[in-house]
Amino acid sequence: MKFFIDTADLDEIREAASWGVLSGVTTNPSLYAKTGGKLADFEDHMVKICEICDGLPVSAESTAETTEEMIAEGKRLAALAPNIVVKLPICEESLPACHALAAEGVRVNMTLVFSAPQALLAARAGARYISPFVGRFDDIGDDGLAQLETVVNAVQNYDYGYWDAEGGPEIITASVRTPNHVTQAALMGADIATVPFGALKNCVHHPLTDQGLEKFAADWKKVVEG
Ligand code: E4P
Repeated sequence: MKFFIDTADLDEIREAASWGVLSGVTTNPSLYAKTGGKLADFEDHMVKICEICDGLPVSAESTAETTEEMIAEGKRLAALAPNIVVKLPICEESLPACHALAAEGVRVNMTLVFSAPQALLAARAGARYISPFVGRFDDIGDDGLAQLETVVNAVQNYDYGYWDAEGGPEIITASVRTPNHVTQAALMGADIATVPFGALKNCVHHPLTDQGLEKFAADWKKVVEG
């Protein structure tokens, strides 16, 4: 399982990158807005993330609405840094944009994926990454992990001929809320989990680990004070 961090916050990215566990970063318009960033600073902000990540794939989402605009914005974003991945929402307009960008070697992360047919179409259109969402199903009382499993099983049945040399398309488990989302995604063979920093920290901690640390410290104190 590769870990991406799901944030546009530079400090969170720096700290997570220092752990030596990161394989990439995903951002989206909401995550950039959360940083308080301004429109004029968006591209510079994405470049800063690319510099912090030193070559790791960084997904920057296009907000274009037509195929032509997606292609133009995708080329502009890809030109910002060699590790930029262009994020497009799965829709009728983004499929031809993905196809055109992939043909020019631009890596596309097809996002807002909620079904196997969406994922299969994204893979066939040349997406380098496909992002099925888990948590938003749970938010409406559906079973996000069951939905993820249909996407993983369907996509991984086939080769698609665009990114085979890089092992793509890779499935990025998105909309992750808990360590169990990471566990289950790994057990079903999803390639990547993109995890918000809070959830990533929760992946490090376990109550029994914390309890054990306290006991070791208390017992070692007796040794020191012997
Ligand atoms: C990642 O690429 C997605 O944009 C992100 O995981 C969505 O998470 P959310 O459902 O918590 O907004």
